[in-house]
This record gives sequence, structure tokens and C-alpha cells, in this order.
Amino acid sequence: MSNESTTSSQTISSVLNEQRLFPPPRKFTEAARIKAADLAALQRRADADPVGYWADLARAEIAWRKLFTQTLDDSAAPNYRWFADGELNVSWNCLDVHLAEHGHRTAIIFEGEPGDVRELSYRQLHAEVCRFANALKARGVRRGDRVVIYMPLVPEAVVAMQACARIGAIHSVVFGGFSALSLKDRIEDAGARCVITADGGRRGGNIVELKTATDKALAEGCPSVETVFVLRRTGEAVAMQAGRDVWWHDAIVDQPAACEPEWVDAEHPLFLLYTSGSTGRPKGIQHASAGYLLNAKLTNRWVFDLHHDDVFWCTADVGWITGHSYVAYGPLAAGATIVMYEGAPTYPDGARFWRMCEQHGVTIFYTAPTAIRALMKLGEELPARHDLSKLRLLGSVGEPINPEAWMWYHRVIGKERCPIVDTWWQTETGAILISPIPGVTATKPGSCTRPLPGIFADIVDDEGRSVTTPGAGGYLVIRKPWPSMLRTIWGDNERYLKTYWEKFHNRFYVAGDSAHRDADGYFWIMGRIDDVLNVAGHRLGTMEIESALVAHPRIAEAAVVGRQHEIKGESVFAFVVCRGARPAGDTRDFERELREWVAEQLGAIAKPDDIRFADNLPKTRSGKIMRRLLRAIARGEPITQDVSTLENPAIIEQLRGQS
Ligand code: WT7
Repeated sequence: MSNESTTSSQTISSVLNEQRLFPPPRKFTEAARIKAADLAALQRRADADPVGYWADLARAEIAWRKLFTQTLDDSAAPNYRWFADGELNVSWNCLDVHLAEHGHRTAIIFEGEPGDVRELSYRQLHAEVCRFANALKARGVRRGDRVVIYMPLVPEAVVAMQACARIGAIHSVVFGGFSALSLKDRIEDAGARCVITADGGRRGGNIVELKTATDKALAEGCPSVETVFVLRRTGEAVAMQAGRDVWWHDAIVDQPAACEPEWVDAEHPLFLLYTSGSTGRPKGIQHASAGYLLNAKLTNRWVFDLHHDDVFWCTADVGWITGHSYVAYGPLAAGATIVMYEGAPTYPDGARFWRMCEQHGVTIFYTAPTAIRALMKLGEELPARHDLSKLRLLGSVGEPINPEAWMWYHRVIGKERCPIVDTWWQTETGAILISPIPGVTATKPGSCTRPLPGIFADIVDDEGRSVTTPGAGGYLVIRKPWPSMLRTIWGDNERYLKTYWEKFHNRFYVAGDSAHRDADGYFWIMGRIDDVLNVAGHRLGTMEIESALVAHPRIAEAAVVGRQHEIKGESVFAFVVCRGARPAGDTRDFERELREWVAEQLGAIAKPDDIRFADNLPKTRSGKIMRRLLRAIARGEPITQDVSTLENPAIIEQLRGQS
């Protein structure tokens, strides 16, 4: 299967040669929440009785309205249900539980891109959430209704998510970088009753016109939408449609700062989050309330070692799962203080992150390898100008971190004092599954180390047999259900079964990654096994980009593959066939047009970096595009596959851009 891996052979071998080992600093271990003996005890309990283990944790960590009696319901496996007869409210568990003793504690430190800073205590955040929850109810939003959130990364985005949770509405956050068309698809698939957006957000010195994009999406469909709430953020003029659109500040003006939560079943959907697959439209990953909350809360404490005086900055947008579990829900459930930043990491310069770490006294910093690589390229002088001495723990997520970036993070940002947690997980898993425990696990640059207690991760071959030979690759699978696993794909349970379970006959969850283990049992993620790209830590389906390209009037056919990119990990490489003749001469204007076209259809992150025109695409006799061949060409690697069956062998030169 390694031949299908999207990771280059160089990366794999450099990672295989990685010998360095970094035990946790003694000072860190002494103060850590989880020490070696604690981890061993958790591990023993989880191995001996996995269901009982999760039941104990769920009883201890969640404030239940009605305690569950059944822990795991596997009667409809692999549609597992957890704690199903229990009742709770997630927003209550993130906010109300802290009020009596810690209401004054800072929940959110927010910095806008222009430099505006705002702090909200738990009490203030609770009041804002209640007011907005009441505003949603006043507009007829009820338990089970879907609400799409399309906002900049400002505190109101968290308020909106928590307010939905409070009234039992199911939110679906759409990243503000997605286009109007992507927004429309998601609104329609979810059947959303309401959209929450803003006049705009700020990014890289520009204004992202969210309301304009929302209007465009709604003008082209979305008949289910009755109300659009609009937060004033930039102050730019926007059109407001009478009857449908309402300003956030007007909607909350007379609303009380208290709102009795809607008590919901443990399995009540908390949110949908759309993510790309290898085929078809984005999948609405559906998460349930209690199980999600449990793993989100626990991993914040175990992996990030959260203490009450920590200042935790996870740089992810709430448009991604990381921003759900490590910004909007998990840290709040754990009573932490979080930092939120609206804008670009390099605005107005490449020291923005480090200046903010200093100013806000950040102690735990969690970001993506793509950001680390981009900041690394700017040199060591920028971080050196700032006092980073409060930092005590660093994290990485989204893609394999290359050892060079790991070492830079360790040395230049962490001053060799901060453990690095390389956390493996997915939109579907809800929370971190494989990661070091920072006070216990010795780390190796590029490895996410070992599964957390209660997570039965394994690597198997095509027949589902465990691969135990060190260095031998296989499919990454999870052998037993865990509480924060996805429940289904919204509106398409068939696709859920097919995508995650079919391959090994429902025996284990198939993550879609390839991985291998070393002699110490450490996991090394090699990349995706399907046609999914990982661009700057975000998943993009090749099919989606191909569909966007062929929607252009001049494009007849397209094939998209990934190629290694110094900063983004992978970049989008498109081979396209035009209607009529292949464009000749200087094609730069047309390439620009196609890039803008893709951005318009999907969002700027999907723009191809490379576009190559050809008379046709290489296909097998049965008409399948030879993707492996295209990948080799895109990467400038030697062609090893059999090309004798090609209809037009001369096409190879064209695809290589040499004729
Ligand atoms: C895919 C999930 C989970 C939040 C961010 C992305 C890749 C994620 C790691 C890691 C190597 C990683 C995998 C995974 N990935 N974390 N620490 N090391 N690869 O969420 O968009 O659902 O993507 O990201 O390929 O399957 P996502």
C-alpha cells in the first residue's frame, strides 16, 4: 500500500532515520498533572475494561442532568452510541460549572488583527452566550435546528457555538476562507434554518467580506434559511435584507443574561463539520454531545497539561475541528484561559505570534507545521526579540511535522525547555487520539508517539492483520470505539459505513492514513492513502478541485494531484485539458484566471499552485486516470509505472511541460 501513500519516499526515509530522543524535562514532569504512574494506572484500567474506564471518566468529568446507566450501546455497530440514556448540556458544562468559584477568571483573551484587545471572564462569556441563545430562540431557532456559522475568529464565534449548544441547536461552522458556493453547498446539505455571520473579518490587512458572500450563497438557493444574524466587526457598509437579516447587537439588546439550558440526550448531535473526502461532496461529520465533550475535556488536561494559571493559545480557526476541540469547547470545559487571534500569522510582520505570546503571557502554544515552517523561514531574529520565557509546552497538529521544523520549534521557540506534543487526530475522531503525554513520554521529532489510554490504535495490512515489524507500513485503524468518535455522516449513513468501516468488515475504524511503528512502538504517520491532499494542514479532496476546474467553460477535463511544498506540506498541482486547442504561448493570464476561478468555487486554499495544459490525460485501458503517473510527474520523480498501455505515449513529455 505504500505505493499509494502521498508522502514522498524521501520524507519516509528521513523519518525512519530519526534517532533523537527527547525525554521530558524534569522540571516539567515534577509539576505535570499526569506522571508516569498515573499514565500507567490509566493504561491498565483502560486495557482491562475499556467500557468501564470510559464510564468512570464520564461520571467524574461531566456534570449530568441525568446520569447514564448504559455506557456503550453497540447494538447498531458501527453506529455506536455512548452514555445514551444520560442527559446534559454541553454549554452548561463549559460555562455554568465554573461560575460559583471561578466566574471572575478570564476565559478569553482576544486580539483582533488591527490590535484591538478584549478580555472576557467566564461570567461575561456566560452572559453573552445566554443573551445570544435567547436571541436565537426569539427568532424561532429550536432544539435540533441546524445553524450555520460563517464568522471571523472573534469571541462572538465561540459565543455563537456555545449559544447553539445551550439551546440544543446543531451548529455547523464554515471556515471564513471558503467561498460563497462552498457556503451554499453546506447550508443546503445541513438544511440550516439560520446563518450567523459578520459584516466582515480582517486577514492580512484585507477585509474578508463574509456578509457579501452569505448574500451570494443565499441568492443562489438555501430556501431553508429564515434568519441571518450579522455581527458588526469591520464597520463596512453591508446590505441588510428586511425581515431576514438582523444585526447581532439589535438582536441581543433586550435579551436577559440568563438562559435555562435545553437538557439533551447524550447522543443529541452537538455539531456538524464538513470535511473533504476522496470522492463526492464534502461530508457533514456528525458529533454527539456527551462523548465529544468527554474526550475534548480530557485531552486538554492530559495532553496540554492545563492548569488554572495557564494561558493556552491554539491558533486554529473555529472553522476547523481543532478550533472546536481546543478553542471553543475543550479548554472551556477544563476552565482554562484561552487566547484567540483574528488575523494572519505574518501581519503586520512575522513576529506577530511571538509578540502576542509575550504580551499575553502564553504558556501553552498549539499550531500547525505549515505555520512553523513559514515562521522558520523568516529567521531566528524575530522570535529572539520577544520574551518567550512563559512558554512551557508546545504542540503541533494537522500533518506530519518534518524533523527540521520540529528541531527549530524545540530550539528557537521552546528554548529546549518545552516538551513538544505532536498530536494525531482527525475531524472524525473529535479529539486527539495519539500523542505524547508531556510529562511522561520521551519524544522523537516527527512521531506522534503512542495512543492515549483507551485508544486502541493499530497498524494493519490489507487483510486486517496487525503489522508489527518495525518500519513496515500499513493502514492506521482504531480497534475499539471511543466516546468522541463521529456518529455518522449527516444524511448519508451509507457513506459513513463505506468510508470508515467497509474495508475491514466493520471490525475497526479506518482512519485513511498510512503509518508505521518503530521498535519502541511509536507511531509515525506517513500520509493519506486516498486521493485527499493535505494543504497547509487542511484536507482537500482532489475530486472537488477537479469538479471546480471542469466547471470552467474552457476546461474539458482535469486531474489534480499533490506535490511536496516547502511550507504548505502539499500543494495543488492540476493537469487540465481545454475544450478545443491546447493554449499555446504565454499561458500565465489564463492560469491566473483558473486559479481565481477555483478560489471562487471553493475558497483560496484550494487554488492550484501549478497548472499544466495537455491534449489529453493518461488513462488506463479501462479509462481510469493514471494518478500515480501524474503524481510522479508533478513531483519530478522518475516514472516507474507501466506506460505501455497509454493511448498516446507522447503525452508524457507534454505533461512534464517539455513540449
Ligand atoms: C488528517 C486529518 C486533527 C486536526 C487537524 C486536521 C493529518 C493530523 C497529524 C499529525 C501527521 C496528521 C492526517 C489526518 N494529521 N494530525 N500529528 N501527524 N498527520 O484535521 O482536516 O480532519 O485532517 O490530518 O492525515 O488523517 P483533518
